[in-house]
Amino acid sequence: MVNDIPQMSMSTSVQSSSSPMLETERVLLANINKSESSRPDLKMESLKLSTVPPKDTAIETENSKQLISKALFDQVTSINHDTCEPGDEDPFFVCDLGKVERLYYTWIKSLPRVHPYYAVKCNPNEQVLKLLASLGVNFDCASKGEIETVLSLGIDPSRIIYAHPCKVGSFLRFSKTVDVNLTTFDNSDELYKVKKHHPTTRLLLRIITDDESAQCRLSTKYGAPLANVSNLLKLAKQLELNIAGVSFHVGSGANDFGSLVKAVKDARDVFDLGRALGFSMDILDVGGGFSYESFNESSKALNFALNEYFPLNENVSIIAEPGRYFVANAFTLAVNVIAKRGGVLESSTSSDNSSPAMVYVNDGVYGNMNCILFDHQTPKAKVLTHRGEFLYDDLNAASENRFNVSIWGPTCDGLDCISDNALLSHNVSVGDWLYFPDLGAYTSAAASPFNGFKANAHTIYVNSESC
Ligand SMILES: Cc1ncc(COP(=O)(O)O)c(C=O)c1O
Repeated sequence: MVNDIPQMSMSTSVQSSSSPMLETERVLLANINKSESSRPDLKMESLKLSTVPPKDTAIETENSKQLISKALFDQVTSINHDTCEPGDEDPFFVCDLGKVERLYYTWIKSLPRVHPYYAVKCNPNEQVLKLLASLGVNFDCASKGEIETVLSLGIDPSRIIYAHPCKVGSFLRFSKTVDVNLTTFDNSDELYKVKKHHPTTRLLLRIITDDESAQCRLSTKYGAPLANVSNLLKLAKQLELNIAGVSFHVGSGANDFGSLVKAVKDARDVFDLGRALGFSMDILDVGGGFSYESFNESSKALNFALNEYFPLNENVSIIAEPGRYFVANAFTLAVNVIAKRGGVLESSTSSDNSSPAMVYVNDGVYGNMNCILFDHQTPKAKVLTHRGEFLYDDLNAASENRFNVSIWGPTCDGLDCISDNALLSHNVSVGDWLYFPDLGAYTSAAASPFNGFKANAHTIYVNSESC
């Protein structure tokens, strides 16, 4: 619906920035399968297939801000709330694929030995998958559906790890028929299952880690205790299975990178046990748990551990399963204020104890902000428009966050609360828009259509690396 909101004005200010050329390693680019880039479905005319690293690998660039700003502006100004069709004002994402590309180059510069297998579960967005595939990233799939998604893009099955230590039997048979020949396990029942359904697959033994401080713990559910490793390897030997190495995961949103070093050290011990039993042991899978914000620290810890316990001359292939790292910062969610209740408490000036105003928006914990429940995220709301003024990345807003509100999703459930105590820069009213930066990880992937609200938000793509 094209609209006529003439008073909408952009108040973002733009400054230019320049960074020195970075000496980016291109180790992984050598792994790009040339035959794949000639496939029509991987050509992606609309995307830049870059073999030249960007000058600037900082995630936020002025170009990126401007493109995201323009995409948000164009979309919200196209909607006339008084006349639009049902759903025209639905929440939507803006995805900057250029950020994903820069994150890739940051990865290969910082972790040149570690080949990433993107964890599809984190965000199976097709444009992201295609871009990562074109850059040489491989894929971690955990179900038949994810394997099919990746294969449907023309990606070779040799680029997939079926990274689930407790697989559905029929999915395992399926993985055999489509030639996915690398998987993980952490218990003896899984070994019998593998023997039955896919005896020739290569296996990585997933070991337990100390993930106590991670945002989302995984070792409470998966990973063999070290005390079980010897028996598992012996059983695999008896069953004539092919143990190719070790995997682990230090927890999603990991914070303690000492546990990464410890996990690599433990993996070393398992390698030695495996080799003593005659297994090849030539793949180490260091899992996920990386995020852009802590990447400097985690990559340094990992490099230290790899050099210490898996020196280069050993010819062990090091792979990882990053999810959050590649997508969290690339997606911005815009939501519309559909209702509001109660007065506004100006927290810095008033001693009034009345409750903050309740602001209702058209996305919530049953939709793209399910990450509040499932991923322990705390999405940060910012005002995108207020009474016709466009405020994306408003430089003045940070110091003026004084309107204390609670923010609620659109469903009838009282659980559907995005924030019970948010501070906004403006006294928002019905029809205004809010935005949430950095909502690409574990968001759309688990959105539900509960209560009749659409699960799949529209995504607008920009690419700050293609211009
Ligand atoms: C087996 C496995 N690999 C990789 C990931 C991705 O983790 P992250 O998004 O923290 O990188 C997960 C997340 O749950 C996982 O379970």
